[in-house]
Amino acid sequence: MPPMDAVAGEAPFIEARDLVKQFGGMRVVDGMSIALARGEMVGLIGPNGAGKSTMFNLLAGSLRPTSGEIIMDGADISSEGPETRIAHGLGRTFQIPRPFGEMTVLENVLTGGQGQSGERLWVNFLRPRRVATEEKAAVEKARGLLDFLRLTPLALEPARVLSGGQRKLLELARILMADPQAILLDEPAAGVNPALLELIIDRVQALHAQGRTILLIEHNMEMVARLCSRVAVMATGRLLAQGTPGEVARDPAVLRAYLGSTA
Ligand SMILES: Nc1ncnc2c1ncn2[C@@H]1O[C@H](COP(=O)(O)OP(=O)(O)OP(=O)(O)O)[C@@H](O)[C@H]1O
Ligand SMILES: [Mg+2]
Repeated sequence: MPPMDAVAGEAPFIEARDLVKQFGGMRVVDGMSIALARGEMVGLIGPNGAGKSTMFNLLAGSLRPTSGEIIMDGADISSEGPETRIAHGLGRTFQIPRPFGEMTVLENVLTGGQGQSGERLWVNFLRPRRVATEEKAAVEKARGLLDFLRLTPLALEPARVLSGGQRKLLELARILMADPQAILLDEPAAGVNPALLELIIDRVQALHAQGRTILLIEHNMEMVARLCSRVAVMATGRLLAQGTPGEVARDPAVLRAYLGSTA
């Protein structure tokens, strides 16, 4: 199947071409292509084990593809590591967030900051004032993000006290510290209670309204239908179908793939 067209005529902001990831003899991602226009929000759905999270690992650089290319903003980033991709403006959340449990919520958010000179010891030594100013700015930014995600009352609690849904929000705050222009969200609504789910949907919508490009893996089809005008369906490592949420929900091949996965 040809790559999903982003917006006709415009070069995609993020594009995966023919990605393959093989583990031993298993092709977990098997020639998957997808393209997102700048500012677009696209859903990535598919049965358990389809290869969606592996696609995210390839896009974010935590896994190297066996073959295929990843292009972001016109540059081939296929061989770059995760840190460089973050610096390029690509952020990703994990399906199962693992915050530092003994660190406070605020400190966890601060770990998402990029390129602060305090990370380099010699700058700390030579320019303590500059480091102090940057740290103050980072704390202010982190506090603003905690506000945005309604986590302020928990800012000074150890992260281990957070519920599953609150951990998803914390993860989002952490990656927003690096100002990502593109965000990969791996099941932000999984295991989240209904009240928190509404907040998460609302915040993802707000991030999209700020102009960010978003790729959303989610099993909650109601959420996908509310947020995404375009959906890619993955099954056995490949792009099985694409279209509006309504179109893919009626696609017999998609229904078969889901039935097959539960049979
Ligand atoms: N490091 C690995 N080594 C071997 N096999 C792996 C590895 N990572 C993932 N897999 C296998 O690849 C397949 C796809 O896994 P992946 O996590 O990408 O699926 P998914 O679409 O995200 O599923 P889910 O909806 O359940 O999260 C699974 O069969 C999984 O067991
Ligand atoms: Mg997954």
